Order: sequence, then structure tokens, then C-alpha cells
Amino acid sequence: ESKKYKERYRPQFHFSPEKKWMNDPNGLVYHKGVYHLFYQYYPEDIVWGPMHWGHATSPDLINWKSEKIALYPDQNGLIFSGSAVIDTQNSSGLGSIQNPPMIAIFTYHDMDGEKAGKTDYQTQGLAYSLDEGKSWKKYSQNPIIKNPGIKDFRDPKVFWNAETKLWNMTLVAGDRAQFYTSKNLIQWNFESEFGSNVGAHGGVWECPDLFKLKVNGTNKEKWVLLISINPGAPNGGSGTQYFIGDYDGKRFTTDQKDIKWVDYGTDNYAGVTYNNTPNGERVFIGWMSNWSYARNTPTKNWRSAMTLPRTLALTETNGVYNLQSQVVKQLKSSEKVAFERDKMTIENDKPKTFTYALLNQSKIDFKAKNEDLKLVFSNDVKDSLVVYYDAQLKSFTLDRRNSGQVKFEKSFGAQSQNTKTPLLQSKTIHYQIFLDWSSIELFLGGGTYSFTAQIFPNQPYTKLSISSKNDQCLKEFSISKINSIW
Ligand code: FRU
Repeated sequence: ESKKYKERYRPQFHFSPEKKWMNDPNGLVYHKGVYHLFYQYYPEDIVWGPMHWGHATSPDLINWKSEKIALYPDQNGLIFSGSAVIDTQNSSGLGSIQNPPMIAIFTYHDMDGEKAGKTDYQTQGLAYSLDEGKSWKKYSQNPIIKNPGIKDFRDPKVFWNAETKLWNMTLVAGDRAQFYTSKNLIQWNFESEFGSNVGAHGGVWECPDLFKLKVNGTNKEKWVLLISINPGAPNGGSGTQYFIGDYDGKRFTTDQKDIKWVDYGTDNYAGVTYNNTPNGERVFIGWMSNWSYARNTPTKNWRSAMTLPRTLALTETNGVYNLQSQVVKQLKSSEKVAFERDKMTIENDKPKTFTYALLNQSKIDFKAKNEDLKLVFSNDVKDSLVVYYDAQLKSFTLDRRNSGQVKFEKSFGAQSQNTKTPLLQSKTIHYQIFLDWSSIELFLGGGTYSFTAQIFPNQPYTKLSISSKNDQCLKEFSISKINSIW
């Protein structure tokens, strides 16, 4: 075991860069047994700066290996967010059918243009790799999409549409999404725009994604459009909303009226999904931070991590569709049960307390009655992280006001995060909680609601106390240790 990746607050089972600043996941693509994770990266400092694409690879979405920086800024600008595909038929002509190119399509951000007060400084560019992402060439005639005269014009997500047999792209323009099509990944036709009179518009739209999902238990399929927004998230700062509707290869439509969020915690932003997964599953990774305080979190040498990869699913209840997210099943092989009870009684006003030294590297899993339940994680220096489900109000609270270091930025520990959970209707609720050295991810009701938050306890949490207003019996309770990936 190396000392590397053992610094204070270093995530043990989440991806984080070996050093320096990271933000959005980019270019998520699976190819020849390898999951590629590219990401917004600034190799000179632990705050945001001129963007590159960092690169990591994994056989299983859990264990990651750092690779060389993939894309460097050039005369067209910095390399902002985007996506990657495998051009199997060599439609671009940049490789061959024997050796199909891996193609990255991203946003160029021209700092000089921005400084000069222009509005056309974001364009879309292309780069390709003929050696499975190890080395990259920029397309000689970049940019491939010019700026139509709108300041925020970025974050192209490309995928192969098997129904229309065309490459499809979604990008954002201000607080709208735009759809494009192409035969060769180089020439793109504008098709339509989406977003007026629907959804949250508290900030600029960023990092779109568009994909089809089967509705659980039916043969129906619907399209899901993810849109990150900064600011304007339900618990402050940046967050990711989604729309469920239909898409014909050119136009996205929805009759959705309400605003829906992928995650109700503070720290899941700019999340997008993989192209080309082995069994067509839809795997999502988000950046585990928030633009409100991302630059100020108390880590040294590196800053920020990705969420655990999550498999997305769609449910329908009374004609209403909802997205569910659950940690990918591959994590199972890193989990080792440390404590387990089939049934466990929680008596009114008598909290049950567990002491477990590895609480900060664990999974807590159980089923509880749909009744009030409070969990407090704490340590010997009086930090406490409180999560509370209120069955009457149908609301869930994540309170990190006293969770450890919170003062580095005032919005971080300012208030408890309270979320309405009307979809939790069943008699029992499945709780799944993943605690790493500086994050907590909670999944309620099989991922009907998820909550992701960074935490910076002054010492690792070693105690968990569980209490309930009414007596209740927890079922299938377990605490598992999760192996470190470093
Ligand atoms: C989202 C974002 C993107 C942009 C990138 C720049 O977090 O603002 O819209 O491409 O970060 O690093």
C-alpha cells in the first residue's frame, strides 16, 4: 500500500485525481473492456484554471488508473467539457474500420476572445485517438461548430442514434438545449432547441445528456434529458435537473410540468452517462462538488472527487415518470460485511449506538418502516452529521452544520438541507449509505431519492446512533467495510 492517496480527506473508494484541480467528468465511453473517464483538469493548481482533459481508465468502474493528460489547450482555446464516441464505421475518415478512431468532441473556450469582450468565444472542437485514448490529435480544421453569437455555447454530448442512423449531439446555449445531427461527426446540422417555459432557469444550463431508458416493468421507452444548472439547485448552488419525454432524433418534447432533480444533495454536478456500455446499461458519474464552494474545500494537493458510478432506471407511478439511481453492482466485490443483524429493534427514545472505527469507509444498509428515523454519525471531537427522515412531513434532512470543518465558505454549513420525498409511499424504506473520508451518498427507496454531500470531519466518524420516535424493527441491517482502491 502506498502513502499516496492517504492524505487527510482523500476519498478511498471514489475517483480523485492524484494531484491538482478536477471538475466535470468528460468523454465517458466504454471500449474494448475499458471504461474511460476523462475530466476537466487544471494541472498547475488546486483551483480552476486553463482547462485540459485529464484521463483515467478502469476495468470495472471502481478501480481506476491514472493516465496521461489527453487534451491540452491550443490556439483555439481551453478544452471545456464534452463527450467521446467510437467511430466504428470510420464515418469521419480519421481512422479505418480495422482501427476505428476514438473521437472526442468538446468545447473550445477562447480566453482572449472573452477578455476582449466578444460573445463568440465558445465553439466546438474535435480530437481523435487511434490508440485507445493514449495519444490524441486535434482535427486540423477545428472548430467544427462555430459560435452562433451566444456567450454560453458548450458541453456537446454525442451519441450514435441507431434508429435514425445518424450521430446526434445535444449541447447547451444559454439556458436552452440544442440538438444537432451529423453523418460524419464533423459537419453538423442544427435541428431544434428546447427549454423555453419548462424546467428550472435559475442559472445557465450546462452539461446536457440525452438517452433512452426502458420504463421498469413495461416495454415502454422514454427519453431522458439531463441538464446541469448553476446556480439554482434545490439546496443551493449547482445541481442537475432532468426531463422525461420523447425524442425523434431531431426534437425533444415533454409534457412534464414539475422540476425534477437527479440528486437532492449539494454535491453532484455536471453528471453525464457512458456511451457503449457492455449491456446497454445507463451508467452515470457526477462531479462531487458544488460551484458555490468547490474552490475552498479544505484539501491539499488535490481538489474534489467523482460520485460513485450509478446505474439509472425509470419508474412510472400513476402516469408519472421518475429517474432512479443506484450504485453500480460492481462495488459489491469491494464490500466486506463487518456487522450484520437480521432483525434489530430500535426502542422509542433509546438510540442504538454502534462504534465502528471504519465508519468513514463503509456502507450501511437496512430496511426500516416508513416512520421517523434519525441517524447521527459522530466522533470524539464532537462533530456530528445528522440525517433525519420525517414520515409525517414526508421529508428528508441532511444536516452537516456541525459535521466538522464547515467554515471555509459560508454556504457550505449554513443550513440543513431539507427535501420533500412524496414518492416514498411503501411500508418499508430501503436505506443505503456510502461513507467515504470526505463524502456521504444516501439512497432511499431503491434510489428513488439520492443525496450526495461532501463532509470534512475533524476526525473520522466512529459512532453511528440510530433512533426512532416509535419503536421499530430494522431488517437486514449491515455495516460493510469498503476496500480502498489505492
Ligand atoms: C460545468 C462547466 C461546464 C464547462 C466546464 C468548464 O461545471 O462550467 O459548462 O464546460 O465546467 O470547466
